[in-house]
Amino acid sequence: MVRHFLSLEDFKPEEILNLLERAENLKTMWRTQRLCPQIMRNRSIALMFEKESTRTRLSFEVAAYQLGGNALFFSPGDSQLKRGESAEDTARILSGMVDVIVTRTGSHQTVMTYAEHATVPVINGLSDAYHPCQLLADLLTMKESIGFIQGAQVAWIGDGNNMCVTWASAASLVGFDLKIATPENYRPNLAELLTQLDDSRVEFVSTANEAAKNADVVVTDTWLSMGQDDSEGNRPKAFQSFQVNDDVMERAASGAIFMHCLPAYRGKEVSASVLDGPQSVVWQEAENRLHAQKALIEKLLA
Ligand code: CP
Ligand code: NVA
Repeated sequence: MVRHFLSLEDFKPEEILNLLERAENLKTMWRTQRLCPQIMRNRSIALMFEKESTRTRLSFEVAAYQLGGNALFFSPGDSQLKRGESAEDTARILSGMVDVIVTRTGSHQTVMTYAEHATVPVINGLSDAYHPCQLLADLLTMKESIGFIQGAQVAWIGDGNNMCVTWASAASLVGFDLKIATPENYRPNLAELLTQLDDSRVEFVSTANEAAKNADVVVTDTWLSMGQDDSEGNRPKAFQSFQVNDDVMERAASGAIFMHCLPAYRGKEVSASVLDGPQSVVWQEAENRLHAQKALIEKLLA
């Protein structure tokens, strides 16, 4: 049976934890010996992206190369999708020639349509609802940096976007406590987006300081995600008290880390002093996209 990875909920908690362990091994193997299992020999990945990307494209293309395979990248203007060929037909065509499809779509419905019509694994490389590949890298980074995931205290400060929802999904599945501080009008509807939401793990609070109190991990993301419209300019005002800065980081536990999926906007959701400061693990987090996704591809092709 073909397995897809459209959200974290496609995997059981123990599958996520095993995948992270494998990712750690693959990272060590690559860093120490420049070795990687050649499981993609004679295999290809197609990346069908409706939105911009640096890390996701780069990490999947390099992952395919290190695994002995090949990657083909399509931005919206490169394929017949631009002229109206449907996601259904595109998924069928790709399935005849490649072994994995990675999509970056606006609507999450589109990635579900790909999965419905593909006969090879489909990976969600970000949709308006979730960014599960990013969370694999984020959990790996947590494990490396603070030594544990389960039982951790995590603060999400900023927009209630696709990353926020995916952190809530990870907290529910893997078992850590997540406090979300986001302006009231920007809270995500978690009950609608997550079928396995654990209310005992995820809590909304009103201020950044409240969320950050004693946190082991403080996370944020852009105040304006791709595809969102802020032509009226409301967001900077709504979010001004939700910036992660030194004052907020001071509330966190000693040894706390700062994470961000990137790209980051210094002076908006995070101060330069925090992003570029000693608690920030964002560059390691970005590199971990590569190793986590190698483990993901290996699992889906097994
Ligand atoms: N974090 C992330 O997905 O980055 P890109 O948008 O550059 O792929
Ligand atoms: N929330 C951001 C994440 C970018 C990686 C977006 O959707 O644009």
